Amino acid sequence: MTNTTDATTSHPPRLTRLTFHGPLSETRANALVQRLTRTNPRTVLDIGCGWGELMLRILTAAPEATGVGIDIKAEDLARGRRDAEARGLTQRAEFVEESAVGTSRGPADLVLCVGASQALSSARPPEYTTEALRALRRLVTDDGRVLLGEGFWQRTPTPAELSGMWPGASATDHHDLATLLDLAVDAGFRPEWTETASLDEWEEFESAYQADVEVWLAQHPGHPLAAETRDRLDRHRAQWMSYRGVLGLAYLTLAPAR
Ligand SMILES: C[S@@+](CC[C@H](N)C(=O)[O-])C[C@H]1O[C@@H](n2cnc3c(N)ncnc32)[C@H](O)[C@@H]1O
Repeated sequence: MTNTTDATTSHPPRLTRLTFHGPLSETRANALVQRLTRTNPRTVLDIGCGWGELMLRILTAAPEATGVGIDIKAEDLARGRRDAEARGLTQRAEFVEESAVGTSRGPADLVLCVGASQALSSARPPEYTTEALRALRRLVTDDGRVLLGEGFWQRTPTPAELSGMWPGASATDHHDLATLLDLAVDAGFRPEWTETASLDEWEEFESAYQADVEVWLAQHPGHPLAAETRDRLDRHRAQWMSYRGVLGLAYLTLAPAR
C-alpha cells in the first residue's frame, strides 16, 4: 500500500485507517465471531472479502477451520494475505482473486457476505438481494450459517436526499428491514440474529474511510493529484451527508431451514 506522502509522484494513501470495510464496531465484531463459531464451522467462505478481517478473526477463534476469501480487488486481497501471515494463518486462509458471480465454490459451513451481495448477482438493485440470498442458500451447508451484511432503508429517502446520494440513486435501490428479512425467509433461511449498524458505527466508518486522504490533501495542496482527490472527497462527503441516518446496514445471521 503506497503511504509515502512527500514525493510529488506519490499517490494518496488508501483505506489505511479502516479495520473493517464497513460500519462494524469492535464490540459487534467480537459478538459476531462468538456467535458464528458456536456451530464449530470447519469451512468458511467469504464472498467479496476485501482484506477479510472478520474471516481472519473467525479462523483465529475456530482453530480447526479453513477459510477462502474471494474478491476482485487485488490490493485488498494482498492486505488480507499479509494480515493472515502476521497472525500465523497462512496455512488456513486463502485469498483468491476472482468474481463471486456464479461461483462454483462451496458449500461451506459458514458463508460471510458483508456489504458484498452485489458480488453474487449481476441483477440490478434491489433484485440482486433476492438473487444473492438464493445463491447464499446454495453456498451454505444445511447445518451451517450465513452472515449477510446488507443495506436497507431506515426510512423512505426524500427526493432531495436521493439526488445527493450515488449517481442514479432511487428509492427502489434498497428494501426496508422487514422486507429484507421476509426475503431471507423466502430464500430458505430463519433469522437467528438481526442487528443493524448504529450511527456511531457509520460515523466511525465514514470518517476512517476518508481520514488518511483528507490529511494527505490538507498537506499536499499543490500535488498533481490534489484537484481530482479534492473532487472525489467532496463528492463522497456530500453523498454521505445525504444517506447519513437514511441508509442502514443490517447484519443478519441466517440459519438454513430444512
Ligand atoms: C464494501 S466491501 C466489503 C468488504 C468485506 N466484506 C468487509 O466487510 O470488509 C465490498 C467488496 O465486494 C467486492 N466485490 C464487488 N464485486 C465483486 C465480485 N463480482 N466478486 C467478488 N467481490 C466483489 C469489492 O471488491 C469489495 O471488496
